[in-house]
Amino acid sequence: MLNGEKKIARPFRWAMVGGGRTAGVGYKHRTGALRDNTAFQLVAGAFDIDPVRGEDFGVNVGVDESRCYPDYKTMFTEEVKREDGIEAVSIATPNGTHYEITKAALEAGLHVVCEKPLFFTVAEAQEIKELAEEKGKIVGVTYGFSGNQMMLQMRAMVEQGKIGDIRIVELQYTHGFNATDKADAISEAQKWRVDPKIAGPSFVLGDLSTHTYYMSQLIMPNMKISKLLCDRQSIVGSRAPLEDNAFVLMHYENGAVGRLWTSSVDAGCMDGHRIRIVGSKASLEWWDSKPNELRYEVQGEPAQTLIRAMPYLDESCLADERLGALHQEGLSDAWANIYLKFAVAMDAKNRGDEETLKNLVYPDINAGLEGIRWIENCVRSADAGAAWVEFE
Ligand code: NAI
Repeated sequence: MLNGEKKIARPFRWAMVGGGRTAGVGYKHRTGALRDNTAFQLVAGAFDIDPVRGEDFGVNVGVDESRCYPDYKTMFTEEVKREDGIEAVSIATPNGTHYEITKAALEAGLHVVCEKPLFFTVAEAQEIKELAEEKGKIVGVTYGFSGNQMMLQMRAMVEQGKIGDIRIVELQYTHGFNATDKADAISEAQKWRVDPKIAGPSFVLGDLSTHTYYMSQLIMPNMKISKLLCDRQSIVGSRAPLEDNAFVLMHYENGAVGRLWTSSVDAGCMDGHRIRIVGSKASLEWWDSKPNELRYEVQGEPAQTLIRAMPYLDESCLADERLGALHQEGLSDAWANIYLKFAVAMDAKNRGDEETLKNLVYPDINAGLEGIRWIENCVRSADAGAAWVEFE
């Protein structure tokens, strides 16, 4: 149970790059990182590509004017000179900037939290992983939904054999908010998402399915994909070569099969984020729209709905409980859970506490790297005419 008491000796002095006034994801970072005031304290930022708006925003969220910087390079250079300089930074800018900012942050001696998709290529992620190891720093990735407690319940039940051998994996992350090209023209956030120079080699595969893919790995850490087939489309043609819809078929090394559907043209769908794991004895199913519930369906028995905070849940799941039964938790709590783990990981890294790091389950650099590997394999298959490819 979490009640806001400190988990580390003192909060990290923390900054943001991006995430300013007009940004889609910035507030999620702050609600996550600043939840208890015991993990992170926001003391600096280069919040916006527009320095004037960035400074105004920073001051409005309580950052001293002198520490609202016009760009990340100035911030890293100036903060390093201070005795009370920043120790960690979160990067919440468009995809194409993640690699260079993460690299600069590590070189400036900072722990990093970065948005997904982490970078464009696995080679970049491998280089950054080595750099982070050399510098003794953490790189966390904000797969925010993965902080929902029920993910850990699913992981525990799979591990304990509650559903038997996994046979079928069904993943979906779809919505209909880009069913037309209207937003592509008027929304800054949507314009870059369909520009390969800034978004990278994919649109929805990177934007949406990397979350769901990571969550599936979190739930089933021993399930490895052996090959996949990806069929991707630009249903709104102007988005080509980037896809706004994709189907992926997967074969796993243990003989299980899976499929994932990701789409932003699923017209009428407000939030189709679902994970269903089918085993030889039973199935588990979780919907993002009902994050406090988990369906547990044992063949031949009445289906059960497991409810968050109840004592019958696994202790790994209950460890992240905040509000108690009768009160609903949601996405902000999920973000607070992963941000708390980022802080614990950074603290453990600083103290050389490898035991804590080994046992901490959170989206780390490997999770970011695997997300890119997933995209690369999907794109390779799709571009080969939706061919089956070995998962490399
Ligand atoms: P956005 O376009 O709404 O906002 C981007 C922000 O970054 C803007 O404030 C812009 O001024 C700022 N910016 C751009 N370049 C900058 C630079 N060089 N220095 C400082 N600030 C800069 O984009 P959105 O939706 O917030 O997405 C940002 C990132 O977050 C993307 O990588 C996206 O994939 C990811 N994202 C993740 C979500 C999650 O659930 N983890 C949800 C939404 C987005």
